Amino acid sequence: MSRSAPKSFHVKSFGCQMNVYDGERMAEMLGAEGMAVASENEADLVILNTCHIREKAAEKVYSDIGRMRRDDGSRPMIAVAGCVAQAEGAEIPRRAREVDIVVGPQAYHRLPALVAEAAQGKRAIDLDLPGLAKFDVLPRRAPKRGASAFLTVQEGCDKFCTYCVVPYTRGAEISRSFDAILEEAQALVDAGVREITLVGQNVNAWAQSGHDLGSLIRALDALPGLARIRYTTSHPNDMTDGLIAAHGDIEKLMPFLHLPVQSGSDRILKAMNRSHSAESYRAVIERVRGVRPDIAISGDFIVGFPGETEADFEATLTLIEEINYASAYSFKYSARPGTPAATMDEQIAPEIMDERLQRLQALLNAQQFAFNQASVGKRCDILIERDGKRPGQRIGKSPWLQSVVVENGPEIGTIVTVDLVSAAPNSLVGIVAIDAAA
Ligand code: SAH
Ligand code: SF4
Ligand code: F3S
Repeated sequence: MSRSAPKSFHVKSFGCQMNVYDGERMAEMLGAEGMAVASENEADLVILNTCHIREKAAEKVYSDIGRMRRDDGSRPMIAVAGCVAQAEGAEIPRRAREVDIVVGPQAYHRLPALVAEAAQGKRAIDLDLPGLAKFDVLPRRAPKRGASAFLTVQEGCDKFCTYCVVPYTRGAEISRSFDAILEEAQALVDAGVREITLVGQNVNAWAQSGHDLGSLIRALDALPGLARIRYTTSHPNDMTDGLIAAHGDIEKLMPFLHLPVQSGSDRILKAMNRSHSAESYRAVIERVRGVRPDIAISGDFIVGFPGETEADFEATLTLIEEINYASAYSFKYSARPGTPAATMDEQIAPEIMDERLQRLQALLNAQQFAFNQASVGKRCDILIERDGKRPGQRIGKSPWLQSVVVENGPEIGTIVTVDLVSAAPNSLVGIVAIDAAA
């Protein structure tokens, strides 16, 4: 059955920063094709940009599809993009017949053609992994933007941690070229962006003819108009000398490092195929702190990996106490189809995972609150990103990536000097510093 070509669309992104970036690029591309943005309930085409990292995230797509029938009995054209699309492919329309399009994270530049196929009543599936091809086809970054933007510089992962689907859903590690990245960064700055976060599944594995991520950051540092540079997410083994040095001498590079460790037990790290130890992780953090003492450290943790004993778990708590995190993400281990860990012996009971996660998060939350409290009394620059709840209130980010509420703050995109006057577990309050140098 053929249906009319969609005139409006809605992109709903789940998962990591790479998906947020991809979602924006899909929207820019469909916009350039003449389609209008609409709400999820009104759009002719709804794109679910999905995440496969944990079971809950992956299953969410099916409940979302189920809710897409509208009051008049109609439903939009439905496209499943992102990592569930790559992992499950043709299985998706077998489970959910309503799905018209399945498109992987490296093939979404072909969406217009897939939409045209679907409009003719065909089911359109594209799971090709052509590396960087999409970047050659996507339009220049759209003109109207916020204060801060993501820029994908690296795709894929070669690390094959035994629990993780990313190497399968995103393909091999591959770096975009210097020139392409600088051109895109310039377009973002021209559009009013003040802060760029370089993103990639292993962003610090970015490399090009002998240059590392540190060199790329140095090149971006030279862009007038760009005020702040961040990057995420990193692997401990890819913290090169050049990147660490950049933290010491590039002012635009913000003092924040998200460096996942997953576990503090060497036995578990080995079973995870992390190819680093707790000690080598500590050593990296020490070196970064050596060049940038005020740097805020963030991490990712998994509790309940197969075989994790109480002693292994306590080693993770000990590592957390030693590092002292400013923020962190933590997860219960989720067995993912096709990964080596899914078939390991000694899967951990859900109650034990719950209990460990609670203890872990209690410690991490306390550290985060303490970090925020220790910031009270400091004077720092805030990049204003959005309006707050009350009139005149603005919300922005400190150099250490804390959310700061500023009363009577200046407009979005402004960098303002504030005195931090109070702290909550997840945010701070800042007052515009009247005597600060202009
Ligand atoms: N490349 C990044 C991580 C990307 S996935 C890195 O290695 O640091 C983001 C986080 O999800 C991981 O750091 C890990 O903590 C978590 N994660 C990945 N697979 C998982 C799984 N099967 N179960 C639970 N958490 C998982
Ligand atoms: Fe997954 Fe490990 Fe690669 Fe991170 S480094 S994306 S956790 S396989
Ligand atoms: Fe999820 Fe894919 Fe990102 S699995 S975390 S959306 S790379």
